[in-house]
Amino acid sequence: MKSLSQLLQNIPPSATIAVNDKAKSLKAAGRDVISLAGGDPDFDTPAHIIAAAKAALDAGDTHYPPSRGTLAIRRAVAQKMSQEYGLTVDPATQVLVSPGAKFLIYATLAALLNPGDEVIIFEPYWVSYVPMVIMAGGTPVTVSLDPATQFSITEAVEDAITPRTKVIMVNSPNNPTGHVIDATEAAIVRELAIKHDLYVISDEIYEKLIFEGEHINLASLPDMAERTVTVNGHSKAYAMTGWRLGWAVGPAEIIGLMAKLQSQTVTSAASFTMAAGAEALSGPQDEVERMRQAYKARRDFMVDALNAIPGVECDRPAGAFYLFVRFPGLGTDSMELANILLEEAEIAGTPGIAFGKAGEGHVRFSIATSMEELKRAVARIEKLMRTRSA
Ligand SMILES: Cc1ncc(COP(=O)(O)O)c(C=O)c1O
Repeated sequence: MKSLSQLLQNIPPSATIAVNDKAKSLKAAGRDVISLAGGDPDFDTPAHIIAAAKAALDAGDTHYPPSRGTLAIRRAVAQKMSQEYGLTVDPATQVLVSPGAKFLIYATLAALLNPGDEVIIFEPYWVSYVPMVIMAGGTPVTVSLDPATQFSITEAVEDAITPRTKVIMVNSPNNPTGHVIDATEAAIVRELAIKHDLYVISDEIYEKLIFEGEHINLASLPDMAERTVTVNGHSKAYAMTGWRLGWAVGPAEIIGLMAKLQSQTVTSAASFTMAAGAEALSGPQDEVERMRQAYKARRDFMVDALNAIPGVECDRPAGAFYLFVRFPGLGTDSMELANILLEEAEIAGTPGIAFGKAGEGHVRFSIATSMEELKRAVARIEKLMRTRSA
């Protein structure tokens, strides 16, 4: 047989597979595994959003929609960006709506990169960034951030910039660290992007999940709109992971190439989901706030409870719904930590190494799960640490 795609075979295997497989087999064997490994809100999609999808279906909205997204949802996106960040966005040429933010990040990279172009990715990073850069023909260049400074972006990133650097990827609030960039970090990214003529991909999917500080939309900083693609989506803020809906806003030329990729592959997002997505963006936002408050209460409970356990350390993340936890009482090899938690406490977390080597020494816990489950998890960790130190 002739050989399969070299490009796809070059993609490194995910470091989470082994732990996930083990969690699944423990569950299948009837063990009561508490899963803190996922990124899927435990809340249901708000009722008014579901009603909008049902109404669209009842009205016969079941045909091919415009490939870039219905005008209603593109207008809702443009209006949101104008109201929240003062950005002027043309819904006809500067917005693309797709089945999820994930596809949009890939589409942005595909629109920007030529073979060998380098993309700066801050570490720890969301697991899909490196594979996506490789699939788009680029070369990922990772820049490690320091847990001692809560994983802040510093001027040291300039050392990683070469004549081949084309793009900087920023994710704030961050998965997995929960870090939210401040004005100083945003200024560093802006100045370097302008100085070295770089594009910026700003993944803002956790935008609505901030507990301290304010979200900075990089595109709305001076002279940044022309070089920034903002990617966002409905999954996290509106508890809509299964609907597969996201949007990107950026310069018309880049969005045009992304739209070309979309129209020649997935065609479009699903018609009636876009009716729901427009309602999510333009309708009442009180459910978003209710969920944010619930995540904040869970964060505070978990951070306080974990730090009260000898041998466990956890910073208080300013955003997103993850905790990046250290277990100095157990060790620093994150695969080993995740295995101990799974085997001895029946808790599934994600080993920090999955997010790059700067994530080593950590396990990511998702707090997108009920307070009851989190309380049970804390009790198990307390017991584990007590047993281990006895
Ligand atoms: C940082 C980050 N970006 C993008 C996504 C993709 O979200 P979706 O494709 O569901 O819109 C996720 C999902 O976990 C994420 O954590």
